[in-house]
Formats: sequence, structure tokens, C-alpha cells
Amino acid sequence: MSEGQTPLLGPDLTQGVPVSMLADGAMLLGHAGGEPVLLARRGAEFFAIGAACTHYGGPLAEGLLVDDTVRCPWHHACFSLRTGEALRAPALNPVSRWRVERRGDAVHVREKHERPVRQRRPPAAGTPGSVVILGGGAAGNAAAETLRNEGYSGRITLISADDFPPCDRPNLSKDYLAGNAPEDWIPLRSAEFYREHDIELRLGCRAGAIDTANREVRLEDGGSCAYDALLIATGADPIRLAVPGADRPQVHYLRTLADSRALIAKTSWAKRVVVIGASFIGLEVAASLRARKLEVQVVAPEDVPMARIMGTEIGKFIQSLHARRGVVFHLGTTPAEIGDGRVTLESGETLAADLVVIGVGVRPATALAERAGLAVERGILVNEYLQTSAAGVFAAGDVARWPDRLTGERIRVEHWVVAERQGQTAARNILGRRERFDAVPFFWSQHYDLTISYVGHAERWDRIEMDGRLEAGDCRATFRRGDRKLAIVTIGRDLDSLRGERELEALITS
Ligand SMILES: Cc1cc2nc3c(=O)[nH]c(=O)nc-3n(C[C@H](O)[C@H](O)[C@H](O)COP(=O)(O)OP(=O)(O)OC[C@H]3O[C@@H](n4cnc5c(N)ncnc54)[C@H](O)[C@@H]3O)c2cc1C
Ligand code: FES
Repeated sequence: MSEGQTPLLGPDLTQGVPVSMLADGAMLLGHAGGEPVLLARRGAEFFAIGAACTHYGGPLAEGLLVDDTVRCPWHHACFSLRTGEALRAPALNPVSRWRVERRGDAVHVREKHERPVRQRRPPAAGTPGSVVILGGGAAGNAAAETLRNEGYSGRITLISADDFPPCDRPNLSKDYLAGNAPEDWIPLRSAEFYREHDIELRLGCRAGAIDTANREVRLEDGGSCAYDALLIATGADPIRLAVPGADRPQVHYLRTLADSRALIAKTSWAKRVVVIGASFIGLEVAASLRARKLEVQVVAPEDVPMARIMGTEIGKFIQSLHARRGVVFHLGTTPAEIGDGRVTLESGETLAADLVVIGVGVRPATALAERAGLAVERGILVNEYLQTSAAGVFAAGDVARWPDRLTGERIRVEHWVVAERQGQTAARNILGRRERFDAVPFFWSQHYDLTISYVGHAERWDRIEMDGRLEAGDCRATFRRGDRKLAIVTIGRDLDSLRGERELEALITS
């Protein structure tokens, strides 16, 4: 979605607005030259930038000002008020910027600034001559872009087993699968972008081994690729279900665009689907296939979906949300066999199924790293700079386990925004910046018209403090262990989620 699609609201800022309308730290939504503009005040300074987030068009005026930046309420991207730059993923593009003039008691938005042209700087001493990125997902793409944004002019090769260029993976189970997003929303960047930025994409290309002594990646097609610095961003693979019939053609997993396309193709004739797994992906698939009018049944061993991550109360709420939309749950049981047009459960029940979608979790794709002798323990172990145990080798995204400063534990998550931010940090560290990765984890999940936002990380907790009413789709749940605040879940409270993120950030820096 582009900036220009947001309807024009608020005053015409070119006509000027009274200074008294904007207290210190306040934001005002208006427009200038036919575009939505956010006017913000920090002390005596006024800033005017595009009001729509460049990720999915989120309303920045409903976000949070933090120093001279603004954070998007939808998925927590962050933009500089001074330059319009996207400082934090998931936004990858800057917003526009306007000159602001104060005249007496009024502030006027004047002409739009030209977008700053990034200068490529000559490589600093010690900068690697070539960078190889293994993985064309969130982390790999963000790293490649960041290397160029930071002025890196050496060779960048991005090797991806996917046949498709880096894509908006979260959308594959949401609007795209539901039929509400065209496929041209799915690529993160155009083919021209990679050409213009001199990023060599090797698609449909699988790495088979890493030789850390000779700094070389060996490819399964027999080729090889030398590197000075390597980023492993191989993500995670869906866990395969070991039941009889799981290899039948009506059985699908969902990780890639090809997977999502294959599912969509079958929705043209399939009427009944059984989703195995009541995880985020399983339930997002359930919602999207309900949007396509399929009959959906969900099978999962737990008593309450998502209770392990969100607690019982929120889990029951999500279950009831799906049940109200016609999803039938079979909980506390697992499939015993997948047959022709049916799934038989351990409970003995048989469910009719033209289509079966399995979403029972993922495993980090660590095989290459293990074979190369890197330290691996439920993920590739990295330090706070995302360096692995091998010199010149970094890891980021779903595959990496890093020391999280909020919990004081080493963690690994499967969050889009974290993967992108880690890719960005790893890129800067490849260039010798020594930047710690200490962003508070964030993810979102979408079910019908309801979005759940989660900041922080709580694998274990002893208390959940609820504020607001779940049934009204308006609440905040704070997860605590002892006196430590670990995570905050919000529904219908985007600004609260941003404030929660700030609260957790303050715990890290204190
Ligand atoms: C359907 C779906 C919906 C999701 N929705 C959300 C959401 O709403 N919110 C959220 O926060 N997160 C969501 N996620 C999770 C999010 O997409 C992941 O956390 C994120 O993609 C991880 O990024 P990554 O770069 O680590 O790995 P990936 O994006 O998985 O990329 C890994 C890349 O490595 C490549 N690769 C693997 N092995 C090799 C090899 N040997 N050689 C070459 N290439 C290799 C793969 O082909 C792929 O290109 C969703 C995930 C899926 C699948
Ligand atoms: S719309 Fe702004 S971060 Fe997604």
C-alpha cells in the first residue's frame, strides 16, 4: 500500500495551524499538496513527514513519539522525524519529509524535500570484500538492503533455496491466502531493486555445506561461493507430521509462496479442510479458508489453543472467536491416519477432508551450521552482536539463538520483525559497527478483523494481569514472573502495545 492511498483528514497544513494546537510531544494529522502529513512537535522544533507507514500504510499519527522518531501503531516500525528514514523494520522505505516554517503563532508546512540520495562510501579498513547471505527471507533480505544502505560497495550474493525472491511471508497465511491481497503485494522488492543495488540473487539454489576454514559455501548444484563474511539466515522448516498418510497429495504445509499458491489452487474445488495444529499459522489458515467459505475443522492435542503462549483466558477467547466464525475444534486429540478424503483421529472420530493443512510448528534450519562445526543448541548460538562461534560468520532470524537482555536468557523466536531487525544489525556488524542486538521482540497475528500484538518474551510466567475486556476486543495482558514484567499482549490497543514496548525497553536499559 502506498502513502497516497490514505484519505485526507485534518487541516490543510500549508495554510498554517496555530502553534497552540501542538503541545510539546504532540502530533497532528493534516495534509499538504494532496498528501497526508503528520506534523509533530519536539520542544521548539516542528517536523512534517508522510502520515502513512510505508509497511502497510499504518496511521503514524496514532503511533508513539519517542525522542525525534515516531513508531507505527500496527507493527512497530520506526521513522526519523528529521530525515523520514525507516529506522526499524518492518518498514523498509522512508516516508516523505516537508519543510516546516514557524511564522509568529502559526506553523506552516511548505515544500516537500527531495528524498536524500544515499552515498556509497568507500570500504573502511577491515570491511569484507564480499558478503554471502544464506537465505532469502526476512533476515537475509534486510541484511542485503542494509549493507547497501550503509554504503557497502563490495560484492553481495544472496543464496536462497526459494524459487521466488524474498517475500512478505506473514501475508501468505493472511490476506493473500484469504483472497484479499493480490500476488503483487507479496515480493518485498522488485527484480529491478536487486539489480539497481547490485545484489546478486541466486534463487532455487540450496547450500549444502559451509567450509569455514576456506571461507566458502558449497552449493548442492556442485558450485561454490567464496565469502569474506557470511550471514546464515536459513530460517526454519515446518515440522513434518509422522502419521500414516501424511505424504498424500491433499496434505499441505505452509512456509513458502509456492505452498500458499498450491493451497489457493485447491480452494477452487475443495469444500472441507482439516487443519492440524492450533498454532498461529494453523488458526490464521483457518480464518483465511473460512473467508473462502471452506468448512474448517481444527485438530490439536492441547485443551485450549495458544494457551502455552498467550495463557488460557486469551486462548479461550481466540478459540471462541473462530468458533463464532464456524470453525469446529477437536481438541485434546491428534490424527491417527490421513486417508483418502478423511482424517481419522486418535479419539476414533473420522473427519471428512478434501484438504489437510499441517501447522504443528517449525524447526530452525541449523543443519548446515551443525555440519560446519558451529556451536548449535536449539538454534545457532550467537553473541549479542549476532556473531556465531566461527570467525566472519553471523546468524540472524528464526535460526539464531541470542542472549536476550530483557529475560537474561538465550532465546530464539519466530517473529518477522525480529528477523528483519536482526538482519539489519548483523549487516552493520559485518561492517564492523559492533552494534548490540537488544530490540524487544515483537510479533503480531491476525484472525479475521482482529489483530493480536505481543511485545517481549515470556516462555514461563506465574501471573497474567488483565486490563480491559477481552470479549470487547479491548484489552492488555501483562505477563510477569516474580516481580519481572516479561511480555505484554494487546488486543484492540495498538498505542498501548507501543507503550508496553517502551516499558520493556526501559527495563533493558536500567
Ligand atoms: C505463513 C507464515 C505466516 C507468518 N506470520 C507471521 C506474523 O504474522 N507475524 C510474525 O511476527 N511472524 C510471522 N511468521 C514468521 C516469520 O515469517 C518468520 O519469523 C520469518 O520469516 C523468519 O525470517 P528468516 O529470514 O529467519 O527465515 P525465512 O523467512 O524462513 O527465510 C529463510 C530462507 O532461507 C532459505 N534457505 C533455507 N535453507 C537453505 C539452504 N540450505 N540454502 C539456501 N537457502 C536456504 C529459504 O529458502 C528462505 O529463503 C509467519 C511465518 C509463516 C510461514
Ligand atoms: S503498517 Fe506500519 S509497521 Fe506495519
